[in-house]
Amino acid sequence: MKEKILQILSEEEGYVSGQEICGRLGVSRTAVWKWLKKLREEGYEIESQTRKGYRLLGRPDILSAEEIRRFLPEGILPGRLEVFPVTDSTNEEAKRAYAAGFPDRSLFVADQQTAGKGRRGRNWNSPRGKDVFFSFLLRPDIPPECASMLTLIAALAGVRALSKQAEADYRIKWPNDIVLGGRKICGILTEMGADMDRVHYVVPGIGFNLNRTEFPEEIRSFAGSVYLETGQKICRSRLVADYVVEFMRRYEVFLKAPDLSSFMEEYNACLINAGQEVCLIRRGEKIRRTALGINERGELLVRDREGQIETVFSGEVSVRGLYGYV
Ligand code: BTN
Repeated sequence: MKEKILQILSEEEGYVSGQEICGRLGVSRTAVWKWLKKLREEGYEIESQTRKGYRLLGRPDILSAEEIRRFLPEGILPGRLEVFPVTDSTNEEAKRAYAAGFPDRSLFVADQQTAGKGRRGRNWNSPRGKDVFFSFLLRPDIPPECASMLTLIAALAGVRALSKQAEADYRIKWPNDIVLGGRKICGILTEMGADMDRVHYVVPGIGFNLNRTEFPEEIRSFAGSVYLETGQKICRSRLVADYVVEFMRRYEVFLKAPDLSSFMEEYNACLINAGQEVCLIRRGEKIRRTALGINERGELLVRDREGQIETVFSGEVSVRGLYGYV
């Protein structure tokens, strides 16, 4: 009922009379009045004028399945969509959903995570109300060695989805951090379950720092948010929907030929390290190289001082700028 009332109010730019809402929904005035009260309590700004009716003036930044679906084109997410006010980790949700037999291309979204996971065993700070955390459950028919490429596609989708709401110079720090103004605003952790030759599931998990203004001490030196860097507040449900569209479009292409040849150009144009001297940290040892760009497997091509080119993969090294995070 709530969604139907919202839909009626959204269709009209001006006022909709109480009588019309009752008529279209086949319910009493008291019922409509109760639902409007509930919507106002949730943060919807609904103006009421005697003899004119009701008018929707503003929506709260609600993260809910209904709100996400409102922005999502029909059929783009064939699996389930689950939104949690709080969970341990959306990656864990997706993996539990795999074990429970959930369909391919399901999405698990959270407003808050109590045990958000980062790469290399770190945790991912995930407070409630400002940012968004989500993971896909994918069941792709691809060789296991191709799964990590999805992480780079996930980063590209992030850049494009963000650009739809807040135009800015988003960059990717290889392989998959999204950086704005030299600060990390998005991290991606992809997990996989596979045999030697068959993938059971791939779970790309994405955490965006969107509207927050504070960070814990341990990440303050390099973490940022879209709001802090651009001054623009991001509608989280719309961001999730835009992200699904951007990711799924690329995922379809990837499934037909599981490598990054279709995305290399786009990715390299976003790469913050391209042409820069970077510090590769390989088993604790620091090595200076010039980063060139990725190849079709998502490996980073780097050049040493003698002009020799080698490829490095993300499990093997971590990349830093010479003077800090980027
Ligand atoms: C990184 O260390 O950069 C990766 C961070 C990944 C965080 C996201 S938030 C949604 C999903 N659930 C998790 O527990 N982690 C990922």
